[in-house]
Amino acid sequence: MQPIQAIRWDADQRSVRIIDQRRLPGEFVERDLATLEDVREAIRTLAVRGAPALGIAGAMGVCVALAPHVALDRHAFLAMARSAATDLVATRPTAVNLAWAVQRVLRTGARTPGPPASILDAMRAEASAILAEDQVMCRRIGEAGVPLLRDGASVLTHCNAGALATGGIGTALAPIYVAAEHGLRVTVLATETRPLLQGSRLTAWELGRAGIETTIITDSSAAARMRAGDVDLCLVGADRIVANGDCANKIGTYALAVLAHHHGIPFYVAAPTSTIDPSLPAGEAIAIEERDPGEVLSLGEVRVAAHGARARNPAFDVTPAELISAIITDQGIFRPPYAFTVKGPEGHSFVASASDL
Ligand code: MRU
Repeated sequence: MQPIQAIRWDADQRSVRIIDQRRLPGEFVERDLATLEDVREAIRTLAVRGAPALGIAGAMGVCVALAPHVALDRHAFLAMARSAATDLVATRPTAVNLAWAVQRVLRTGARTPGPPASILDAMRAEASAILAEDQVMCRRIGEAGVPLLRDGASVLTHCNAGALATGGIGTALAPIYVAAEHGLRVTVLATETRPLLQGSRLTAWELGRAGIETTIITDSSAAARMRAGDVDLCLVGADRIVANGDCANKIGTYALAVLAHHHGIPFYVAAPTSTIDPSLPAGEAIAIEERDPGEVLSLGEVRVAAHGARARNPAFDVTPAELISAIITDQGIFRPPYAFTVKGPEGHSFVASASDL
């Protein structure tokens, strides 16, 4: 079976090639994003999504934006890079990986001597390194997390933190894939994840493709499944983990953590160290993306809500650290009390928002 490659370069590194996740599971379609606006639109509409994949898209997106402009002088070229970076980071505010990866590429550009063509080569190499590092980090998360899974375990997961959301085998799903490689039988309860159904569309698709037994449940049935003893542990991803261990993730994650706590079920977050943002002290400081209320008022293209009804659509919530049993990263498993103050891999510092660029 071919591994899923949610995001990569096209052959000449002028476009970003993504699996268009809006079309899954009905159709498997790859798309080449050839302009800054293509990349921004793909991010905005969740054609490419998931914190690590957003970082890779941002890093490659800066290079895509710059490719037609190598005839500019160095100063104007770097100014254009900063402007493209700011536009990309503003597209989705919660996942820190986007700002982190974009800043890495910008810094590489700024310290590369020579004409714009050399700068662009170096930036492309940095974006490629971010993709390659993410593949390694996913694998390490899988290996760090697999001891938490016993044979026959039933894992509840939310949204999609799998291969589709990363450059590699995923974050929350990585220990499940590694367990399967070790011959362990692990089954998964995947929440639907309203409103955009990342659980039923994407998680069920990629786990099914890998032969991992998956049952979709409605978001509102998690409590009953936990009370019935059907959940051994919860395993979710993160979009931003701040200094005290509070984690932003897909809306509904907090509710699951409260439920797991009530039922005495371990609640694990899995994320690469590129998702850790020690510049923010606590979860209250995390910007939560508010999306179009129309996504709540409709199911796919079909309007289902009462005419004239209003909706709120925050895409993420924050799970307080005290509800998180452990955070599984590429650098091992962290347990409470959490205190993330370290620099990221390769000494790159984490950034919080476009204003830091
Ligand atoms: O809105 P999405 O689909 O980008 O939200 C994705 C999530 O919340 C994931 O759990 C998170 O980004 C981690 S992906 C490895």
